[in-house]
Amino acid sequence: TILTLDFGSQYTHLITRRLRELNVFSEMLPCTQKISELDFTPKGIILSGGPYSVYDAGSPHVDPAIFDLNVPILGICYGMQEIAYRADPDNVIAGTHREYGLATLKPQMINSHVDRLFQGLEGSMRVWMSHGDKLAKLPEGFHTVAISENSEYAAVAHGTKPIYGLQFHPEVTHTPNGTKLLKNFALGICGCEQNWTMSAFMDQEIERIRNLVGEKGQVLGAVSGGVDSTVAAKLMKEAIGSRFWAVLVDNGVMRLNECEQVQKDLSEHLGINLTVVDASQQFLDGLSGIEDPEKKRKFIGSKFIDIFEAEAKKIEEAAADSDRAGKIEFFLQGTLYPDVIESLSFKGPSATIKTHHNVYATLPIIPALCLCLIEPLRSLYKDEVRELGRALGIPEQLVMRHPFPGPGIAVRILGEVTPEKVEIARRADHIFISEIREAGLYNQISQAFAALDPSRAVGVMGDKRVYGYMIILRAVTTTDFMTAESFEFSWPFLQRVTNRIINEVHGVCRVTYDITSKPPGTIELE
Ligand code: XMP
Repeated sequence: TILTLDFGSQYTHLITRRLRELNVFSEMLPCTQKISELDFTPKGIILSGGPYSVYDAGSPHVDPAIFDLNVPILGICYGMQEIAYRADPDNVIAGTHREYGLATLKPQMINSHVDRLFQGLEGSMRVWMSHGDKLAKLPEGFHTVAISENSEYAAVAHGTKPIYGLQFHPEVTHTPNGTKLLKNFALGICGCEQNWTMSAFMDQEIERIRNLVGEKGQVLGAVSGGVDSTVAAKLMKEAIGSRFWAVLVDNGVMRLNECEQVQKDLSEHLGINLTVVDASQQFLDGLSGIEDPEKKRKFIGSKFIDIFEAEAKKIEEAAADSDRAGKIEFFLQGTLYPDVIESLSFKGPSATIKTHHNVYATLPIIPALCLCLIEPLRSLYKDEVRELGRALGIPEQLVMRHPFPGPGIAVRILGEVTPEKVEIARRADHIFISEIREAGLYNQISQAFAALDPSRAVGVMGDKRVYGYMIILRAVTTTDFMTAESFEFSWPFLQRVTNRIINEVHGVCRVTYDITSKPPGTIELE
């Protein structure tokens, strides 16, 4: 494992990503992590960039014990300045101007161990710089290994110890050879093996779950048909079979035929022990009259918890009477690494942690059942979860599903939700998605859906003026769902979808395509 200590740079998680792409496991922790409290011994440590100045009072510093571990250390930007500052506070000063953007780096080979970071990278190369402070002089014992137009100390290395510093960011794609540098560090310098694969992870996680749950233990979990809960559920099924109890709650705002489809996929095809609860009427009744999007989300979230709790109690009673007898002690949750990073990354001495908007889809551990949380996906990124899904034999169609929000179609109907509007939005969405699949575009798009605008637009149908709802189509591409671009469909494609929706979905008068990017828009419409 390579330990990445985060000083709050927006790029830190990319370091972990790049290393995992090399099949080297990397874990990110805040820069304030005490080395004595680590439950593993890293083979190397990377100190990330950060928005602070090392010499300011209150700026973050690493536990000095990292230097006693005798493992290789690579400091990136702030991380390099931290290494230099620790040696002598006069080593770091404010630059005369911020250096931001591309720079040309010239490695200076001096034929000793210090070159190992640049092995195979002898020529000039483009790198991405983003810094205000810089080194004023070389820390004692260090050499310059690369320079750029504006940085005399663009890369430095200790003459005898495996300690390196880079002023630029190797983790961003704007540094084309950055991955090669990280590879040189992780494999060549730290001696890591490239053994972090999804099938190894799968075996290891199944083993871990079995040890945790024991011979008789039982696990409960909510599933939605989404990628994360499906992969987590299948993993659990592989580990403990029918001692895992999955629950699918039909909240009345799922997509067309979705509940039946999910039931078929999970129960029949993946062999998961699934209970389906049809609570659609209760949800739709409760949504009546609510117009505010946040109130819709809150209502759906809390109703979900009530229903799930009641179901969990029934399951526990049934479990006690079955041959699987034993108390349900664990609760499965498909938390992913980005959510974990969000809570682990260093936000600065006074920064508050922002609440994740998935908070309404997150279940608290049910107090009456006193369950312990199992989060087998908490070290994985979304594409790694998909990879794990494939390793578990989950069909491609399920593995590649677009995300779907917990409050479902309720947040895709602007304003009040009624059963009539749900039906219309559902049918329009079904046509849009079917056409996208038919055109072979589904996997090129990150998320697509149809939303309903309840304003009545006029139309002429069969010589009569009619008034109907407007359907807003949305399709975006994104890697992290934090920013997104609208997908560029061909004109005939949009015309075909529009004609079908107008002709096949009664009550719709207009169809529009939303090309707003995020920001300033969001992916969902409310
Ligand atoms: P926005 O609309 O914030 O969406 O750009 C980003 C991603 O989050 C999903 N989303 C939600 N997921 N509960 C969820 O489980 C919600 O309340 C919610 N709101 C937005 C959205 O579908 C997109 O993938």
